[in-house]
Amino acid sequence: MFNATQFIEDALDEIRETVGDNTVIIALSGGVDSAVAATLVHEAVGHHLVAVFVDHGFMRKGERREIIKTFRDELGMNLVVVDAQDRFFEALKGINDPEQKRKIIGNLFIEIFEEEAKKTGAKYLAQGTIAPDWIESDGGIKSHHNVAGLPSGMVLKLVEPLRDIYKDEVRKVARELKLPESISERMPFPGPGLAVRVLGDLTPEKVEIVREANAILEEEIRRAGLKPWQALAVLLGEKSVGVKGDIRDYGYTVALRAVESIDAMTATAMEIPWDVLKTVQKRITREIPDVTRVLYDITDKPPATIEFE
Ligand code: XMP
Repeated sequence: MFNATQFIEDALDEIRETVGDNTVIIALSGGVDSAVAATLVHEAVGHHLVAVFVDHGFMRKGERREIIKTFRDELGMNLVVVDAQDRFFEALKGINDPEQKRKIIGNLFIEIFEEEAKKTGAKYLAQGTIAPDWIESDGGIKSHHNVAGLPSGMVLKLVEPLRDIYKDEVRKVARELKLPESISERMPFPGPGLAVRVLGDLTPEKVEIVREANAILEEEIRRAGLKPWQALAVLLGEKSVGVKGDIRDYGYTVALRAVESIDAMTATAMEIPWDVLKTVQKRITREIPDVTRVLYDITDKPPATIEFE
């Protein structure tokens, strides 16, 4: 049986022992994994931690504001916010391949961290890597940026306090650390963010569409009292025929997905009540005029992965 109190005690000892008096830098993504990792390191070394939030432009609606509020204002962390949207869009221009997207995002992430780290003199990079991240990367299923994105010239040493535990255990640690519910119960969200929820090439316009669609889905899921492991909206690549008023129209297709899972290694498509799905569809097509079609994905993992890319 996993004991969160014991885990925290051991993790704090190990972090202190590893990093000593050196400065640690961590990437905050807004997700529960990096939040818990940052909070542990913050408890262990206090002001020796510099938390960096790189806004790559693929965050969910309102996430940047929440991150600043929680970590800087409420938890008192030394938080640096880097505005990097333009750099990411520039680097990803015309890129279609999902693995290439992940690599570019991962590498640019690390590059930006290293720039920040140099300013602080940090010797260590803490990460919220959890067990399924490296198990799946080692198995060659998909390269998660936490693991595969490190360029060989990296000068920072890794601190990964959550490396051996799974998401449900991370949430227990988050509750034990008294992190707000908005964090401890937060749905998982991939490091490359909405970039892997727009199939094919990225434009600010497409990312904005998928950001709105994700926000509507999450809001209605919450309103209905449903608690999926993850619920997500994806913008499919091609436009399809639709009709607006009496006029033939070409619009984007958004696919919705909600799954139940214990550790993301396998997942079951969730039976969302029809009226909830219809409400989400109506809101999406009404509030996002560029979308003319909404699908619901009924595939389990395996054979499908949770994310589409
Ligand atoms: P898949 O799509 O592989 O996802 O079934 C399993 C879990 O991992 C998340 N995920 C990612 N997390 N970087 C991350 O940090 C990534 O590149 C990435 N891809 C998927 C996904 O949201 C799910 O919770």
